[in-house]
Amino acid sequence: MTNSLSENFLWGGAVAAHQLEGAWQADGKGVSVSDVMTVGGPDAERKITQGVQPDEYYPNHEGIDFYHHYKEDIAMFKDLGLNSFRTSIAWTRIFPTGEELEPNEAGLQFYDDLFDELIANGIEPVITLSHFEMPYHLVTKYGGFRDRRVIDLFVKYAEVCFNRYKNKVHYWMTFNEINNQARFDNDFVVFTNSGLDFKPGENREEIMYQASHNELVASARATRIGHAINPDFEIGCMIAMGPIYPETMNPDDVLLAQKAMERNYFYADVHVNGEYPESLLKYWDRKGFNIERTEDDLRDLKQGTVDYIGFSYYMSAAVHKDETLSFDDSNLMNSSVDNTYVPKSDWGWQIDPRGLRYALNWFTDKYHIPLFIVENGLGAYDKVEADGSIHDDYRINYLRDHIEQMKLAVTEDGVDLIGYTPWGLIDLVSAGTGEMDKRYGVIYVDKNNAGEGTLTRSKKDSFDWFKHVIETNGEEL
Ligand code: BG6
Repeated sequence: MTNSLSENFLWGGAVAAHQLEGAWQADGKGVSVSDVMTVGGPDAERKITQGVQPDEYYPNHEGIDFYHHYKEDIAMFKDLGLNSFRTSIAWTRIFPTGEELEPNEAGLQFYDDLFDELIANGIEPVITLSHFEMPYHLVTKYGGFRDRRVIDLFVKYAEVCFNRYKNKVHYWMTFNEINNQARFDNDFVVFTNSGLDFKPGENREEIMYQASHNELVASARATRIGHAINPDFEIGCMIAMGPIYPETMNPDDVLLAQKAMERNYFYADVHVNGEYPESLLKYWDRKGFNIERTEDDLRDLKQGTVDYIGFSYYMSAAVHKDETLSFDDSNLMNSSVDNTYVPKSDWGWQIDPRGLRYALNWFTDKYHIPLFIVENGLGAYDKVEADGSIHDDYRINYLRDHIEQMKLAVTEDGVDLIGYTPWGLIDLVSAGTGEMDKRYGVIYVDKNNAGEGTLTRSKKDSFDWFKHVIETNGEEL
């Protein structure tokens, strides 16, 4: 058993195309689902508009203009010491509507240039194929992934990317946080995951399961094709992990927490084992859900299993079962309660470093394959001092506490961990709220929620701290 992280441990940062690239119409790019989402706030949801409306402000349209600043940003990543960088390919740069017969060469070229720049600076690209960015056209024409014709459109897009970048990218992921949609009563998560826009009276839960199935099949087919294109590819799934604890030792709470975990994380079973867990199939039967699954689908799920589990970890949750709730209720997370043992961020996210160790152990015990922490971090308000410095000790504390637990999971529990790419190392547009002022970065970007600012980049205190962590391979925190 090793007492430190491996020498080739990946230290990186994670972002998504739509949250930082901007240039939403450059070089033939089409409109994506995130191009029709406005800005919200800690207590205000982002609006999803019918297409791009002239009087609305859409923060993703400009992002932090990484499209035109990436060279300067990568120079800072190099200075920071990153050896990996997770980003996504914007589907709409490659297939602007999702339905073109030929890919858009200018879009493909952009990612060639971006990956070349990363590699030239000693930084390995880690690539997500679909990170809340599906072409908006597929929403209006097909209703998103509820329609199985979208499976083939995704697989074609994935195949083009695998072929084009087969000598530049080694680590891939298919769908970002595919399991967010388990919270199907939230309009934002079903829209960003699957392009679902429900009509009144529709059975949201059943449609969500159909869309999820279609996406899981799309992921498996893409994974199988990717492995055929380059057998060295490491292709993972990407799961949003927030362990769900029972509020008390009452067996009802304990069982409820287990059921809520099943309902939220069956996606990992399908990705890793190539089949649905019995508990979910029986749940669908009891609910009378008719989820179309062809013989080909079931075969492909088996043949397209993943090499590793990529996951995000920000917080944990807790549930309590009162007498009004049944284990078969559609949304068990409606029984969430505050965990009084851990603090909260300004956005109400429960800060629980030991939950990360718990998550790493839970995945390992259940799936026995390598893990990759591809998101973690604290969204916080930063204050720029008169001299331009930013003293973000709260961010340093958050990252330090989580890295400590990550190391214990590796060194004491024997978890097989590929790397750690904290979220938004450079400030970017928040996915959940559209804000710029919900900042995760160790690099500050001068831009606010209203879209004002110079876009100038500068280092926060956490920059030098994280640099030292990487230099010592996590030995000195
Ligand atoms: C994850 C997403 O949900 O969390 C990212 O994969 C997102 O896209 C991140 O930005 C943090 O969430 P938020 O809402 O604070 O941006």
